[in-house]
Amino acid sequence: MRTQVAIIGAGPSGLLLGQLLHKHGIDNVILEARTGEYVLGRVRAGVVEKGTVDMLDEAGVGARLHREGLVHDGTEIAFDGKRHRIDFAELTGKTVVVYGQTEITRDLMDGRAATGGKTIYEAADVSLHDFDGSSPKVRYKKDGKEHELACDFIAGCDGYHGASRRSVPEKSIKTFERVYPFGWMGLLSETPPVSPELIYIHSPRGFALCSMRSNTRSRYYVQCDAGDKTEQWSDERFWNELRARLDEKGRDELVTGPSIEKTIAPLRSFVAEPMRFGRMFLAGDAAHIVPPTGAKGMNLAVSDVHYLSRAFIEYYKEKSSAGIDHYSAKALARVWKAVRFSWWMTSMLHKFPETGEFGEKIQIAELEYLFSSKSAATALAENYVGLPY
Ligand code: FAD
Ligand code: DHB
Repeated sequence: MRTQVAIIGAGPSGLLLGQLLHKHGIDNVILEARTGEYVLGRVRAGVVEKGTVDMLDEAGVGARLHREGLVHDGTEIAFDGKRHRIDFAELTGKTVVVYGQTEITRDLMDGRAATGGKTIYEAADVSLHDFDGSSPKVRYKKDGKEHELACDFIAGCDGYHGASRRSVPEKSIKTFERVYPFGWMGLLSETPPVSPELIYIHSPRGFALCSMRSNTRSRYYVQCDAGDKTEQWSDERFWNELRARLDEKGRDELVTGPSIEKTIAPLRSFVAEPMRFGRMFLAGDAAHIVPPTGAKGMNLAVSDVHYLSRAFIEYYKEKSSAGIDHYSAKALARVWKAVRFSWWMTSMLHKFPETGEFGEKIQIAELEYLFSSKSAATALAENYVGLPY
């Protein structure tokens, strides 16, 4: 089998890249290790930047997001038992949309099915070959049989645990990493959100986040210990802990109910440099991970795909390698700014076991400054709604 671009991974980055390339007549095949249902079962991102919305529109899959997504023109941050608001619309003229990654993935999968794009699910033992030369290949097993996909380029969109980054020789890649000493315990429930906007909570018991998927479905997170297992978190324990971290109004208004889904996410910052290795390109979580505070991971995957899709289009339509040559530097410049913002939000809002009372005093000073200075609030808002591409 032969294609122009072999895409590894059918998460948001792989599916979006496939859709954009197809629109420009560039042949592509997606190889995904899991089933489509498994990919759709992962509850992850919820906040969508304007730039991401524009990319989904460009790919022709934004209609349902515009119908069902909730436009948020601000967010609340609570500390010392009080809530404060960051008004994105007033400070930046921009807003974000609350719409689940699951729904974006479903829209992209439906879009791909409608255009007849080829996705091979349950592709096992995917391996990447010869991307340092002119004829790269991807080998995989499907239903016990070995297959080879020859291509011009490989797009490694296979997430943090994928095969693409791992197939690069150690001497050609440099990685930067910070692992945080805590995780997020997330719970989804069919209950109305505690408040119309998201609430990021700094409390002496640790961080919590009140988010949502619709007016009848809530997504909540509480900071937990790094080694915690979901079995240690009964629904009752989760709701009690969230209530204890909320302000008084939140405690009164929180509606609880049985969980539909519960997962623990570890928190890390990770960047691999460069993002191009000959004819292989990394995009999304395959190249970088940010802690979820600040809602940047999926949005960053989409901005990588913005640069990468344009690079391929330039190559095939204008016979120019300029976009390809500049992809890594352009993508990384935006990546590091999102890494910085996510690290900063994480540092300001979580309870750090090692920093003690000094660390807590600094956090409160930072939060007080944020709400006494329009410049500081604007800096948060312009990063949250998304820096320009
Ligand atoms: P992935 O979604 O990881 O997709 C990679 C795909 O590749 C997967 O389907 C995987 O099965 C497949 N794959 C892996 N290995 C192989 C292989 N060897 N062969 C073939 N296929 C393979 N981001 C935001 O922007 N906003 C948020 O609000 C937000 N909240 C989050 C909350 C939580 C709790 C978590 C955990 C994450 C959150 N994120 C958020 C981050 C976001 O979910 C990720 O950044 C996003 O999924 C990255 O997309 P991706 O397509 O690059 O990678
Ligand atoms: C959600 C996740 C985030 O990491 C965030 O900062 C905001 C919202 C969510 O899952 O809804």
